[in-house]
Amino acid sequence: MMATLGTMLATAAGAELKPDDASGLSVPVRAADVAHSVDWTFNFILGVSVFFFVLIVGLTIFFVIRYRHRPGYEAKGGASHSTALELTWTLIPSVLVIVMFYSGFKGYLEMNMPQANSYEISVTGQKWSWEFQYPNGYVDKDLHLPVDQNVQLVLKSKDVIHSLFIPAFRLKKDVVPGRYNKVWFKADKPGVYTIYCAEYCGTAHSDMLANVVVHEPGGFESWLKEASDFLSTLPPAEAGERVYQMRGCTQCHSVTGAAGIGPTLYQSFGREEELDDGTMIVVDENYIRESIIAPRAKSVKGYDRNAMPTYQGTISDEEIDYLIAYIKSLDGQEQESGEEQGQ
Ligand code: CUA
Repeated sequence: MMATLGTMLATAAGAELKPDDASGLSVPVRAADVAHSVDWTFNFILGVSVFFFVLIVGLTIFFVIRYRHRPGYEAKGGASHSTALELTWTLIPSVLVIVMFYSGFKGYLEMNMPQANSYEISVTGQKWSWEFQYPNGYVDKDLHLPVDQNVQLVLKSKDVIHSLFIPAFRLKKDVVPGRYNKVWFKADKPGVYTIYCAEYCGTAHSDMLANVVVHEPGGFESWLKEASDFLSTLPPAEAGERVYQMRGCTQCHSVTGAAGIGPTLYQSFGREEELDDGTMIVVDENYIRESIIAPRAKSVKGYDRNAMPTYQGTISDEEIDYLIAYIKSLDGQEQESGEEQGQ
């Protein structure tokens, strides 16, 4: 039930998503086909380990007590060779490790071999956010998926090594600069689940979170259509706010005045800033545009000029226009929602 509600909320424009994969001490819910074989392998290895732990520790304790040194007892001879016993303790473990290898390798192949009719989504990791691009060119900060459909993720990084980790899918794949990694799976349970970065990538590594939204049948197509159209249907400042959220700006630039990895956007338009070379600049349309396309050209004093990735070639002029409208709207004046925004 929670899954259905979460998916509905996720469909609403810009809604806050609430993942429903919280599971306390047990393993996370299973929401993809590959998760079943991973869990089977894990449980098999766990079961074998527990069985032999109890057997070996139990026998050790038993023998220590049973054959302890006592006055009046003399050790009689040594243990002699037993072919039957040695074959038993060689063959049984061999069969067990072969089963482990077989199920592990089968699951590995499932994730790493192309599946028929896969829906392709391109994933970009950067410090410190994820971008998911759909076949129509639309980019979102969350991963939206159709249920019961083979999916292929093509992963790349703009800077350092990240790792896409979706516990509910039992899926983890390195995201490496300079190469494309691929992974295949089929989500089979609608709901909202959490994506983590599982490779330490700097200051905000642990904030590099996103959601996976697995839609009910038919829900994905209508979500994609609605989401892709937001630029033309929302007022400029509201569309800009969506771009701000989708493009990962939120990770470094607050809109409340709070300090972050980059300068706050609150009341930033028209503000005079000192750059790290000592010159002054007024934050206007051209400075905002340049800072998105070539962020290292003019960096505000006190901030790491290498922290921000360039958006050249990945962001449209239209999106930049809306971002500027949004930044202008953050002037500290009370806003009537939906009206008079973006001047
Ligand atoms: Cu990206 Cu850790």
